[in-house]
Amino acid sequence: MKKPFDLNADYQPEHFEFNKVYKKHMTDIIALYPKGKQQSAVMPLLDLAQRQVAQEGAAANPPYGGWVPRAAMDCIADILDMPRVKVYEVASFYSMYNTAPVGKYLVQFCTTTPCWLCGSDDIVKAATEHLGVGMGETTADGKFSLMEVECLGACVNAPMVQINDDYFEDLTPDNMRELLNILAEDMKPTIGSQTGRKASMSAAGPTTLKKQAKKAKVV
Ligand code: FES
Repeated sequence: MKKPFDLNADYQPEHFEFNKVYKKHMTDIIALYPKGKQQSAVMPLLDLAQRQVAQEGAAANPPYGGWVPRAAMDCIADILDMPRVKVYEVASFYSMYNTAPVGKYLVQFCTTTPCWLCGSDDIVKAATEHLGVGMGETTADGKFSLMEVECLGACVNAPMVQINDDYFEDLTPDNMRELLNILAEDMKPTIGSQTGRKASMSAAGPTTLKKQAKKAKVV
Protein backbone atom coordinates (compact mmCIF):
# COMPACT_ATOMS: atom_id res chain seq x y z
CA MET A 1 0.00 0.00 0.00
CA LYS A 2 1.09 3.50 -0.81
CA LYS A 3 1.99 5.66 2.20
CA PRO A 4 -0.53 8.43 2.96
CA PHE A 5 0.07 11.83 1.44
CA ASP A 6 0.95 14.22 4.28
CA LEU A 7 1.39 17.80 3.11
CA ASN A 8 2.84 18.97 6.42
CA ALA A 9 5.03 16.04 7.40
CA ASP A 10 8.47 16.73 8.88
CA TYR A 11 10.19 15.11 5.92
CA GLN A 12 8.72 17.59 3.42
CA PRO A 13 11.55 19.84 2.13
CA GLU A 14 10.97 23.59 2.08
CA HIS A 15 12.05 24.05 -1.48
CA PHE A 16 12.23 22.29 -4.83
CA GLU A 17 13.32 23.36 -8.25
CA PHE A 18 14.26 21.51 -11.39
CA ASN A 19 18.01 21.50 -11.95
CA LYS A 20 19.55 22.64 -15.23
CA VAL A 21 19.31 19.25 -16.95
CA TYR A 22 15.78 18.53 -15.79
CA LYS A 23 14.69 22.07 -16.63
CA LYS A 24 15.61 21.34 -20.24
CA HIS A 25 13.53 18.12 -20.14
CA MET A 26 10.69 20.11 -18.59
CA THR A 27 10.74 22.69 -21.38
CA ASP A 28 10.77 19.94 -24.01
CA ILE A 29 7.82 18.17 -22.38
CA ILE A 30 5.70 21.31 -22.07
CA ALA A 31 6.39 22.15 -25.72
CA LEU A 32 4.71 18.88 -26.74
CA TYR A 33 1.30 20.27 -25.76
CA PRO A 34 -0.73 22.75 -27.79
CA LYS A 35 -0.82 26.36 -26.64
CA GLY A 36 -3.21 26.76 -23.73
CA LYS A 37 -3.13 23.03 -22.90
CA GLN A 38 0.13 23.04 -20.93
CA GLN A 39 -1.62 21.77 -17.81
CA SER A 40 -1.78 18.40 -19.54
CA ALA A 41 1.95 18.14 -18.83
CA VAL A 42 1.26 17.67 -15.12
CA MET A 43 1.79 13.90 -15.18
CA PRO A 44 5.13 13.85 -17.04
CA LEU A 45 6.38 16.74 -14.89
CA LEU A 46 5.52 14.85 -11.69
CA ASP A 47 7.41 11.88 -13.09
CA LEU A 48 10.32 14.16 -13.96
CA ALA A 49 10.43 15.59 -10.43
CA GLN A 50 10.38 12.07 -8.99
CA ARG A 51 13.29 11.08 -11.24
CA GLN A 52 15.33 14.11 -10.25
CA VAL A 53 14.78 13.30 -6.56
CA ALA A 54 15.80 9.68 -7.26
CA GLN A 55 18.99 10.81 -8.94
CA GLU A 56 19.87 13.08 -6.03
CA GLY A 57 18.93 10.34 -3.56
CA ALA A 58 21.11 7.71 -5.21
CA ALA A 59 24.19 9.78 -4.33
CA ALA A 60 23.03 10.73 -0.82
CA ASN A 61 24.11 9.13 2.44
CA PRO A 62 21.93 7.40 3.46
CA PRO A 63 20.46 6.95 -0.01
CA TYR A 64 16.80 7.40 -0.88
CA GLY A 65 14.62 6.80 -3.87
CA GLY A 66 12.36 8.84 -6.10
CA TRP A 67 9.39 10.60 -4.55
CA VAL A 68 7.51 13.82 -5.18
CA PRO A 69 7.69 16.31 -2.29
CA ARG A 70 4.91 18.83 -1.82
CA ALA A 71 7.39 21.58 -2.78
CA ALA A 72 7.83 19.87 -6.17
CA MET A 73 4.05 19.74 -6.67
CA ASP A 74 3.81 23.43 -5.80
CA CYS A 75 6.65 24.19 -8.20
CA ILE A 76 4.85 22.28 -10.99
CA ALA A 77 1.56 24.03 -10.22
CA ASP A 78 3.28 27.40 -10.57
CA ILE A 79 5.03 26.40 -13.80
CA LEU A 80 1.79 25.14 -15.35
CA ASP A 81 -0.30 27.93 -13.87
CA MET A 82 -2.79 25.61 -12.22
CA PRO A 83 -4.23 25.32 -8.70
CA ARG A 84 -1.90 23.45 -6.37
CA VAL A 85 -4.69 21.21 -5.15
CA LYS A 86 -5.15 19.87 -8.70
CA VAL A 87 -1.52 18.75 -8.74
CA TYR A 88 -1.95 17.15 -5.30
CA GLU A 89 -5.01 15.29 -6.62
CA VAL A 90 -3.10 13.80 -9.54
CA ALA A 91 -0.01 12.91 -7.49
CA SER A 92 -2.00 11.25 -4.73
CA PHE A 93 -4.29 9.31 -7.11
CA TYR A 94 -1.77 7.42 -9.24
CA SER A 95 0.32 4.71 -7.62
CA MET A 96 3.41 5.46 -9.72
CA TYR A 97 3.98 8.67 -7.79
CA ASN A 98 5.46 8.28 -4.33
CA THR A 99 4.22 11.10 -2.15
CA ALA A 100 6.40 10.13 0.82
CA PRO A 101 10.09 9.19 0.97
CA VAL A 102 11.05 5.68 -0.16
CA GLY A 103 14.24 3.65 -0.19
CA LYS A 104 16.67 3.69 -3.09
CA TYR A 105 15.10 0.47 -4.33
CA LEU A 106 11.32 0.40 -4.17
CA VAL A 107 10.28 -3.25 -4.32
CA GLN A 108 6.66 -3.64 -5.39
CA PHE A 109 5.32 -7.14 -4.85
CA CYS A 110 2.45 -8.24 -7.02
CA THR A 111 0.17 -10.41 -4.89
CA THR A 112 -2.87 -10.56 -7.19
CA THR A 113 -4.39 -13.98 -7.99
CA PRO A 114 -2.01 -15.34 -10.70
CA CYS A 115 1.09 -14.29 -8.73
CA TRP A 116 -0.49 -15.52 -5.51
CA LEU A 117 -1.28 -18.91 -7.06
CA CYS A 118 2.35 -19.14 -8.23
CA GLY A 119 3.78 -18.43 -4.78
CA SER A 120 3.91 -14.67 -4.17
CA ASP A 121 3.35 -15.31 -0.44
CA ASP A 122 6.66 -17.18 -0.36
CA ILE A 123 8.41 -14.37 -2.23
CA VAL A 124 7.08 -11.77 0.21
CA LYS A 125 8.09 -13.95 3.16
CA ALA A 126 11.60 -14.49 1.77
CA ALA A 127 12.14 -10.76 1.17
CA THR A 128 10.68 -9.48 4.44
CA GLU A 129 12.67 -12.01 6.47
CA HIS A 130 15.85 -11.34 4.49
CA LEU A 131 15.62 -7.57 4.90
CA GLY A 132 14.05 -7.54 8.35
CA VAL A 133 11.28 -5.10 7.40
CA GLY A 134 7.61 -5.47 6.56
CA MET A 135 5.34 -4.08 3.87
CA GLY A 136 5.27 -0.29 3.81
CA GLU A 137 8.59 -0.12 5.63
CA THR A 138 12.12 0.96 4.65
CA THR A 139 15.36 -0.66 5.74
CA ALA A 140 17.49 1.35 8.19
CA ASP A 141 20.22 1.83 5.57
CA GLY A 142 17.73 3.56 3.24
CA LYS A 143 18.24 0.99 0.49
CA PHE A 144 14.92 -0.88 0.29
CA SER A 145 11.24 -0.04 0.68
CA LEU A 146 8.65 -2.79 0.33
CA MET A 147 5.17 -2.31 -1.06
CA GLU A 148 2.33 -4.62 -2.05
CA VAL A 149 0.62 -3.79 -5.34
CA GLU A 150 -2.09 -5.14 -7.62
CA CYS A 151 -1.44 -6.94 -10.93
CA LEU A 152 1.48 -5.42 -12.84
CA GLY A 153 0.55 -7.14 -16.11
CA ALA A 154 3.28 -9.76 -16.19
CA CYS A 155 1.10 -12.60 -14.87
CA VAL A 156 2.42 -15.05 -17.44
CA ASN A 157 5.81 -15.01 -15.71
CA ALA A 158 4.41 -14.98 -12.16
CA PRO A 159 5.39 -14.48 -9.46
CA MET A 160 7.06 -11.16 -10.10
CA VAL A 161 8.10 -7.86 -8.53
CA GLN A 162 8.79 -4.41 -9.90
CA ILE A 163 11.89 -2.70 -8.54
CA ASN A 164 12.09 0.96 -9.54
CA ASP A 165 11.54 0.84 -13.33
CA ASP A 166 12.31 -2.84 -13.89
CA TYR A 167 10.38 -6.10 -13.74
CA PHE A 168 11.84 -9.29 -12.23
CA GLU A 169 9.89 -12.43 -13.03
CA ASP A 170 9.75 -16.20 -12.44
CA LEU A 171 10.78 -15.60 -8.86
CA THR A 172 11.56 -18.17 -6.20
CA PRO A 173 12.51 -17.42 -2.60
CA ASP A 174 16.15 -18.17 -3.48
CA ASN A 175 16.42 -15.96 -6.55
CA MET A 176 14.50 -13.20 -4.72
CA ARG A 177 17.10 -13.20 -1.94
CA GLU A 178 19.87 -13.25 -4.54
CA LEU A 179 18.29 -10.29 -6.31
CA LEU A 180 18.20 -8.30 -3.08
CA ASN A 181 21.84 -9.16 -2.36
CA ILE A 182 22.89 -7.89 -5.79
CA LEU A 183 21.00 -4.63 -5.31
CA ALA A 184 22.36 -4.21 -1.80
CA GLU A 185 25.79 -4.02 -3.46
CA ASP A 186 24.41 -1.52 -6.00
CA MET A 187 25.17 -3.93 -8.83
CA LYS A 188 22.88 -4.49 -11.79
CA PRO A 189 20.84 -7.72 -11.67
CA THR A 190 19.43 -9.41 -14.77
CA ILE A 191 16.10 -7.82 -15.63
CA GLY A 192 13.10 -9.97 -16.57
CA SER A 193 12.85 -13.70 -16.05
CA GLN A 194 15.16 -14.99 -13.33
CA THR A 195 15.08 -18.49 -14.79
CA GLY A 196 16.22 -17.55 -18.29
CA ARG A 197 12.81 -17.79 -19.91
CA LYS A 198 12.58 -15.71 -23.09
CA ALA A 199 9.89 -13.04 -22.88
CA SER A 200 6.59 -14.75 -22.06
CA MET A 201 7.29 -18.04 -23.82
CA SER A 202 5.93 -21.20 -22.20
CA ALA A 203 8.36 -22.46 -19.54
CA ALA A 204 8.55 -25.73 -21.51
CA GLY A 205 9.62 -23.89 -24.70
CA PRO A 206 7.64 -22.65 -27.69
CA THR A 207 4.32 -24.37 -28.31
CA THR A 208 3.50 -22.42 -31.49
CA LEU A 209 5.55 -20.56 -34.11
CA LYS A 210 8.32 -23.07 -33.47
CA LYS A 211 10.14 -22.39 -36.75
CA GLN A 212 10.20 -18.65 -36.10
CA ALA A 213 11.48 -19.23 -32.56
CA LYS A 214 14.31 -21.35 -33.92
CA LYS A 215 15.12 -18.77 -36.57
CA ALA A 216 15.20 -16.04 -33.93
CA LYS A 217 17.50 -18.28 -31.86
CA VAL A 218 15.30 -18.12 -28.77
CA VAL A 219 15.35 -21.90 -28.28
S1 FES B 1 -1.05 -11.12 -11.14
FE1 FES B 1 1.01 -10.57 -10.81
S2 FES B 1 1.54 -9.61 -12.67
FE2 FES B 1 -0.55 -10.07 -12.91
